[in-house]
Amino acid sequence: MTLPALLENRLRLPVVAAPMFLVSDPTLVTACCNNGIVGSFPALNQRDSNGLRTWLEQIRAGLVKDAAPYAVNLIVHASNPRLQADLKICVEQQVPIVITSLGAVKDVVDAVHSYGGLVFHDVTTRRHAEKAAEAGVDGLIAVGAGAGGHAGTWNPFALVAEIRQFFDKTLLLAGCINHGHEILATQILGADLAYMGTRLIATQHNGADDAYKQMILQAKAADIIHTPAVSGVPASFMRQSLEQAGYDLNQLQNKADINYGEKLKPINDEAKAWKTVWSAGQGVGGIEDLPSIEELIKRLDAEYRTALQRCQQLRLQAQ
Ligand SMILES: Cc1cc2nc3c(=O)[nH]c(=O)nc-3n(C[C@H](O)[C@H](O)[C@H](O)COP(=O)(O)O)c2cc1C
Repeated sequence: MTLPALLENRLRLPVVAAPMFLVSDPTLVTACCNNGIVGSFPALNQRDSNGLRTWLEQIRAGLVKDAAPYAVNLIVHASNPRLQADLKICVEQQVPIVITSLGAVKDVVDAVHSYGGLVFHDVTTRRHAEKAAEAGVDGLIAVGAGAGGHAGTWNPFALVAEIRQFFDKTLLLAGCINHGHEILATQILGADLAYMGTRLIATQHNGADDAYKQMILQAKAADIIHTPAVSGVPASFMRQSLEQAGYDLNQLQNKADINYGEKLKPINDEAKAWKTVWSAGQGVGGIEDLPSIEELIKRLDAEYRTALQRCQQLRLQAQ
């Protein structure tokens, strides 16, 4: 179990709020950090790099004295024309944690390390994890099967076990985490932090439409379809929204092109797709309300403590 000094004694719960395209905004980030978990957002949620700077200033202005650190997600892919400009802003603004997706590149890691920042990289297989470890990242985010967004297909037990064979730095585990006992379960498996996405969409203040949140409340795990048809990278979407957007469910194994540059245009297929086809993980079936972030974290905290007591009872029974 390894937590970097930056996070040691800074968190109320061992949780990072995952960055979510078109959902995570400064309100969500500051609410998470001010209630003791790491808040994050994808740089591409702002329309340009100056906008990214504005959001960072806005987030910092909204943080209370003992707030948890925040993170920015950069898509490291040749099709993202903003990568260098956004990275420059992260360095200039000394963003505490940079979460990289798709590519793990030593130059990006070195740039963030130059001011003492941390790089966490998300992975879905052992090979990706090995490459990211070679690039010198400080943490790996194991994105298991059933997660929202660009989910993996590996069982989380298998993914964590294999990554822990060669990686002893910070490990985060993602996929279907909605409750305090699931947060503790990630630690028992060998991870250090839980990485939560879908649960945070179904809360009061973020960039998601109300109809999106309502669909999450209605959906069950069986409604989640993992398909490369929307983004080019396999991602999890709710069947109801794919149908509403006119997708032919029989065609969903056809791969779309990967193009993060497309996300920058106000009207285009990729951004329109994520705006109208709503992503969520298989954890939807365990989400039943739309609390504020403060209420949710308070509840997670109580559930986490109850789960710890249960472990204590199990330990006594095992003696
Ligand atoms: C709507 C949505 C958008 C997402 N956008 C991104 C993104 O832009 N960058 C990224 O690294 N991960 C993205 N993800 C993945 C999350 O960061 C995280 O890995 C995932 O949500 C965790 O699984 P869970 O949703 O089951 O909790 C997205 C997930 C969702 C649900």
